[in-house]
Amino acid sequence: MNEIHLKTIDSTNTYAKKHAPTFPKGQITCVIAEEQTAGRGRFHRTWDSPKGGNLYATFYFLLPASSKSLMSLSQIMACSMAKVLLTEHFSPKIKWPNDIQLSGKKCSGILCETRFQGEEVEIFLGIGLNVNMGQDLLGNIDQPATSLFVESGKEWNQLEILQKLQTQFASDLALFTKKGFAPFHNFFDKLLLFKGEKIRCFDGKKEWTGLFHSITSDGQLNLQLPDGSMHTMLSGDISHD
Ligand code: BTN
Repeated sequence: MNEIHLKTIDSTNTYAKKHAPTFPKGQITCVIAEEQTAGRGRFHRTWDSPKGGNLYATFYFLLPASSKSLMSLSQIMACSMAKVLLTEHFSPKIKWPNDIQLSGKKCSGILCETRFQGEEVEIFLGIGLNVNMGQDLLGNIDQPATSLFVESGKEWNQLEILQKLQTQFASDLALFTKKGFAPFHNFFDKLLLFKGEKIRCFDGKKEWTGLFHSITSDGQLNLQLPDGSMHTMLSGDISHD
């Protein structure tokens, strides 16, 4: 994997989008920063990215523009991160589509951006993990948040975690490009929060309320509406109703 290490940058996703034409083709480029001054989250939110041992990385690669289930790439990355955390003896849960929680609080978020270029699509898959963030800074975040440090009581080397994530993701991506989301469905499903429960889901435009019925074969959410009909959500932000 090609790696680019930066000290301070606005956002690793923004940097990757700007510099992608210079990245080698045919392999994954991973852009890593020690701190971000304008870290971005989903739905135009910000991602708090102070210096001091968190993980901020963007994975860049190309896929054929005709690839199916591009939408589930963030779920694949969530699976990769969850697997790494499981091997470190944490008990991660996934809040669909791609937030990772520990003890009911968010520790990791994923932002997937795409850019179509003729026959190919460029993928900018950004992931943030709160590694050594203390309670003081976590308290500034606009939703309940935690870090590996807070959960385990010890400091972690974020570059060691990154290396494990790179290995896991490279293997998961290879499987995904061959077989799609199917081989991940069971693992993803087992770690899901709110399944079978009443939820609200904001799709970027509208808020839906219903029962979290199931996950489709390519990682979308089947929401059972009050009239019994099924609404499939490609992406969104869910919470307990
Ligand atoms: C979210 O939960 O809303 C997604 C957060 C994604 C944060 C990561 S940190 C590395 C990469 N660069 C960014 O600006 N955002 C992503």
